[in-house]
Amino acid sequence: MSRMRDNLAFFRQFLVRPAAIGALLPSSRFLARAVVSGLELDSARLVVEVGPGTGIFTDHVLPLLSPRTDFFAVEINPHLAAIFRQRHPDVTLYVDSAVNVPRIVAEHGSRQVDAIISGLPWASFKPELQDELMGAFLSVLKPGGQFVSYGYIQGMVLPAAQRFRQTLLRQFSYVKLSGPVWLNVPPAFYYQCRL
Ligand SMILES: C[S@@+](CC[C@H](N)C(=O)[O-])C[C@H]1O[C@@H](n2cnc3c(N)ncnc32)[C@H](O)[C@@H]1O
Repeated sequence: MSRMRDNLAFFRQFLVRPAAIGALLPSSRFLARAVVSGLELDSARLVVEVGPGTGIFTDHVLPLLSPRTDFFAVEINPHLAAIFRQRHPDVTLYVDSAVNVPRIVAEHGSRQVDAIISGLPWASFKPELQDELMGAFLSVLKPGGQFVSYGYIQGMVLPAAQRFRQTLLRQFSYVKLSGPVWLNVPPAFYYQCRL
């Protein structure tokens, strides 16, 4: 019942801010599990999730973290942040834009990040915002750092999605594009990248 309420709240936020939310519903657990599946976080010191929405990816990231790993999330939408906090009361969440990740990392007492898990809707972002976000992430990811992100199959042909893909190929030494994850509405794919 509470998941249904969360989905409805997410859908309402999509109606208000379609470009920033970028999806009608939160991701499925199948997609969330797949996206984080390739992450190697055993020796990670700091892991950051951006655009966590209601927290479905976080469900699957937390069990991968060792007790020595610090983790926080950055969500721009206060309504979704409130749902996230109910679902993950023990997780540090900043209600802020992910472009501010470098400042937040510094305030958090760190300088570098081992992995960034992105739930951001890159295909609906303008080129300037894509560049600002990616610049911010690259400035804190440590050498060999991991970056994962996802998109929707029907959106792959959009210029913004292709631009994002080119950026990943240019900036990361390893970029793997998954096959389709059909058990998601809509079907999705994901990127697993390493600096
Ligand atoms: C497609 S939804 C994904 C939500 C969640 N990760 C999931 O898979 O269900 C995109 C999320 O990114 C958030 N978002 C968009 N722009 C952002 C920004 N600049 N900084 C932080 N979060 C942002 C939205 O508010 C939304 O929660």
